[in-house]
Amino acid sequence: MLIKIARPSDCQASEITPESLYLSRRAVLGASLAGIAAGALPGMALGAEPSRYADAAPGAAPGWFTDKLGTARWQAITVKDEPITPFKDATHYNNFYEFGTDKGDPAANAGSLKTEPWSLVVDGEVAKPGRYALEDFVKPYQLEERIYRLRCVEAWSMVIPWLGFSLAEVLKQVEPTSKARYLRFETLQDPKSMPGQRSSFALIDWPYVEGLRLDEAMNPLAILAVGMYGRELPNQNGAPLRLIVPWKYGFKSIKSIVRISLVAERPTTTWESLAPTEYGFYANVNPTVDHPRWTQARERRLPSGLFSPNVRDTLMFNGYADEVASLYSGLDLRKNY
Ligand code: MTE
Repeated sequence: MLIKIARPSDCQASEITPESLYLSRRAVLGASLAGIAAGALPGMALGAEPSRYADAAPGAAPGWFTDKLGTARWQAITVKDEPITPFKDATHYNNFYEFGTDKGDPAANAGSLKTEPWSLVVDGEVAKPGRYALEDFVKPYQLEERIYRLRCVEAWSMVIPWLGFSLAEVLKQVEPTSKARYLRFETLQDPKSMPGQRSSFALIDWPYVEGLRLDEAMNPLAILAVGMYGRELPNQNGAPLRLIVPWKYGFKSIKSIVRISLVAERPTTTWESLAPTEYGFYANVNPTVDHPRWTQARERRLPSGLFSPNVRDTLMFNGYADEVASLYSGLDLRKNY
């Protein structure tokens, strides 16, 4: 993320890309999106398909993850006609400021993050608050592969095959009270393992915090991810648990989550508090509302070479308008960027 240094915008006219969310052939067999998110698709493609991600470096998955992979629903949602980003790019071009500000820093430094054991607190305005060991937290939920576009506010994008489960299902379990209007997410704070949190140059007031409106969090597209490319999340991508909200700029997809709080007031989020005129709370991908210092009309789809940039038009809500536009009816998206 950029605060003060202008980024050269080398965008050009781009190809037109398919707009709508695409359910894979298997998923289309009798499924609505809501049905998928509710885990209502018996007999869909279950079990691992390792050959599809031959380029993915093998991980060292914990036992609970390997067990869950055995019953995963593959390609529950995918993107039509847009190739998946190579694993190497998705894992070596990262934003994870806890491990440094250069794109290569997270891959170089995140090995120090200890993801086992990991515990997660769910608290605030819920009938059933709790502190969970991660393996207990994930137990009730169906693991699904969701192949989504990821669009960073910096105007680059990727297509990533996440493995995760519906955030709406989690909310149903913890039972938000009538006062709950927002979710507040918090990343681990551990300066010992996170060099960025030790740096005296860091602008961020740690821990990294993000938020969603409750109705946004209930949208079937919103997931908590524990894996990608058929394996557990690499540390640099937010292991062991991160948020994925594909219609929003990537900075909403908070990594290495340790706390989810249901709250009555809109939480103050990291980038909004650092530069409120540049990064808003909503952060919906919107090609018609430019960042003050660069256009958001186009994006570089990675990998993208200096001499042959892979540039394409940015889609409203990152191509997920059919699924999410109704969340914002009546809201001025120029003011609520
Ligand atoms: N979460 C935390 N805790 N710290 C971060 O610096 N960066 C965000 C988001 N989540 C960030 C974070 C930004 S700006 C983006 S674009 C995405 O993570 C990048 O995800 P990726 O590195 O997996 O592509």
